[in-house]
Amino acid sequence: MTTASTPSPTTPSGQLLGQTVVVIGGSSGIGLETARQARAAGAGVIVTGRDPARLKRAGLELDALSTAVFDATDPAALGDFLEGLPNPIDHIMVAAGAAYYVPLAEMELGRARRAFDEHLWLPLQVARGVVHKVRAGGTLVFITGTGANHSGIGLSIMSTLAAGLHALTANLAVEVAPVRVNLIAAGFVDTPLSAELLGDEIEERREQLRATLPIRRVVGAEDVAALALHLMTNTALTGAAYDVDGGQQLLRG
Ligand SMILES: NC(=O)c1ccc[n+]([C@@H]2O[C@H](COP(=O)([O-])OP(=O)(O)OC[C@H]3O[C@@H](n4cnc5c(N)ncnc54)[C@H](OP(=O)(O)O)[C@@H]3O)[C@@H](O)[C@H]2O)c1
Repeated sequence: MTTASTPSPTTPSGQLLGQTVVVIGGSSGIGLETARQARAAGAGVIVTGRDPARLKRAGLELDALSTAVFDATDPAALGDFLEGLPNPIDHIMVAAGAAYYVPLAEMELGRARRAFDEHLWLPLQVARGVVHKVRAGGTLVFITGTGANHSGIGLSIMSTLAAGLHALTANLAVEVAPVRVNLIAAGFVDTPLSAELLGDEIEERREQLRATLPIRRVVGAEDVAALALHLMTNTALTGAAYDVDGGQQLLRG
């Protein structure tokens, strides 16, 4: 079975009509797909990224309200961007970042620090800088991996960051209410980032997942985006993490 043969999650048409959705890291993968689905649900979108050409393409496709090129781990650039956002906004998703899986002995501290910047400082700074502009009942949506409760060689950084982001999400949800704060914890998602990380091994990995995952297909960016839209529209949800991994964690032995 291929991903293409499986029906994509449906877009809740009109559910975000007239709303403004900001996606930091919205020019590729999960962020781009979330912006697409938000647009299809009636929202105006603002997307960011570092690569100007890629962001321009995304902005044109999405008919974006605006786009902004900057490195989201640069606090000054991030601060300027957040300050320039319209007031109010409805939802903001942080989808920028990569992954750093490495054994301790091979760890480069600069890259490790960068991972902390992307996955812990960035969500925290976004919350500090934008929450006063998010309307009551609107959301902050963060993304991490499913590693918060898993240990293994090479997982130290990403597992620590996942656990930290779970705690940050729960605490922020109390502190910034009635703005809601939620976390998506994703397993393998078939995105340009995964293709870059796995290189020549990507097709083998897809095949393995199709054969072993309980859902018998690979999780795509559209699956994660559908969850992100649900978190934006279901006003009962705050302070929690939601796994989207096709059952991948059930297979760890
Ligand atoms: N794919 C997975 O299996 C998976 C699983 C769990 C969690 N996640 C997390 O989900 C998020 C999105 O992943 P993805 O797979 O969709 O990645 P992706 O396809 O590489 O997309 C990442 C997006 O963020 C932007 N970006 C990256 N670093 C940035 C930075 N420092 N400043 C501004 N923009 C930046 C990228 O554009 P530019 O490169 O042009 O800046 C792109 O628009 C990441 O945080 C990733 O760690 C992914």
